[in-house]
Amino acid sequence: MAQTTILVADDDASIRSLLKQLLADEGFAVLEAATGAEVVEKVKESVPELVIMDIRMPELDGIEALSRVKTINPRTAVLIMTAFGSSNMAIRAMELGAFDYITKPFELDKISHTVKRVLEHLALTAEVEVLRDEISSLVQTERIVGNAPTMQEVYKTIGKVAKSDATVLITGESGTGKELVAEALHYNSNRRSGPMVKVSCAALPESLLEAELFGHEKGSFTGAMTQRRGRFEMADKGTIFLDEIGEMTLPTQTKLLRVLQERRIERIGSSLPIKVDIRVVCATNKDLQRQVEQQKFRDDLFYRLNVINVHMPPLRDRKEDVPALVEHFLAKHRYSATAQPAAISEEALRRLMEYDWPGNVRELENVTERAVVLSRGQIITSRELPFGDHEAGEDEDSGEELPGDRSFFKKSVAQFEKDLIMKALRDATGNRSKAAEMLGIYRRLLYAKIKEYGLEGYPPKGR
Ligand SMILES: Nc1ncnc2c1ncn2[C@@H]1O[C@H](COP(=O)(O)OP(=O)(O)OP(=O)(O)O)[C@@H](O)[C@H]1O
Ligand SMILES: [Mg+2]
Repeated sequence: MAQTTILVADDDASIRSLLKQLLADEGFAVLEAATGAEVVEKVKESVPELVIMDIRMPELDGIEALSRVKTINPRTAVLIMTAFGSSNMAIRAMELGAFDYITKPFELDKISHTVKRVLEHLALTAEVEVLRDEISSLVQTERIVGNAPTMQEVYKTIGKVAKSDATVLITGESGTGKELVAEALHYNSNRRSGPMVKVSCAALPESLLEAELFGHEKGSFTGAMTQRRGRFEMADKGTIFLDEIGEMTLPTQTKLLRVLQERRIERIGSSLPIKVDIRVVCATNKDLQRQVEQQKFRDDLFYRLNVINVHMPPLRDRKEDVPALVEHFLAKHRYSATAQPAAISEEALRRLMEYDWPGNVRELENVTERAVVLSRGQIITSRELPFGDHEAGEDEDSGEELPGDRSFFKKSVAQFEKDLIMKALRDATGNRSKAAEMLGIYRRLLYAKIKEYGLEGYPPKGR
């Protein structure tokens, strides 16, 4: 691979040479710039992979230079150096697409570490892009994120089988992305201009599910006021996605088996066979093999469905994908329609990587979305994560000042809590045990809160 080029920009020559030495020692080609204008010029000329620059520079300041760099080449990663405490600048820089920022004075270790992280990120993005191109340029659905070896296997299988009509069984825990895979199979198939029809087998009781799948003739059962086409018919020339197939009852399984064998259906109340040209994709978070052993699932149906199996790995087994997923969800769930994606602190990201994700990618998506709101779309720290108390001091990332409005949330919650306690104390005419009971909290906690909010003498006697 060609040598990676890094542009170091600072008006302070001693900092430039320090960085240059460090990075050259690590095998990078290093360019220098002393002004913002020079940065722009060098980026145009030499297309460095990474720019490390001071935010304050003569001629063109770092912020302006950053936005020009991003216009010239959005792929160039930019690391900003700021003086300690200039958090507004840092936030602005992140908004403009800086990869991260480092506060001055910095430790050289921190620089090496951050540079490594940027480059890993760039490599990962490039690699995933290539893989995705291999699958198809036509994935119209939300993209599947993840580069873990187990996910690459998934992509390969999709690539291999999408164009065939083979039945696919997608297995994996809840929230691992089974539906995304089903969509990828459809949109990468020759049937992509046909319909993709989804049916959840868990949502309906047996008789309604059958009516939904097969349709019915008018008057075929109570409530069948009109004739209706079923989902199999609607999926003609397309794909039918049978979600939560493990919930299907044995009688319905028998009917499904017939459809798969004969590629024909009959509406309920009719004996006229209707040909259907469908591709069947199923998903389940159950162990179907086990259900077969327990005779809850027909073995002949299982073998027909399981022609191709795609197994989605749980997120805890591919934690290396957490950063890319987080980035994806930050871009997906913006604070407002026009906002830049929120950023996340290294420490918060570490927390996300330590967690085990029983709800898999769906849970990560929910946690990220919530954190975007709590951080008001700015920089997510571990305070915005629902993992309980963080150890004191641990997340005091140097220079990572919280956006001013953070305290608004805490203050509002505290005020609300105080109001509730005051009301309970009033209603209980000062009887603390009773107030605790009304609030549904332990007396000990109420005492602590009374002390915290200085409510010892509340409510005043004689009122
Ligand atoms: N690899 C991924 N990349 C991007 N988004 C993902 C990925 N995996 C899952 N998601 C997102 O997580 C959410 C849950 O995914 P999905 O509905 O496909 O899971 P599932 O396996 O079908 O879960 P369940 O068994 O609970 O139905 C969706 O919003 C989906 O877009
Ligand atoms: Mg699903």
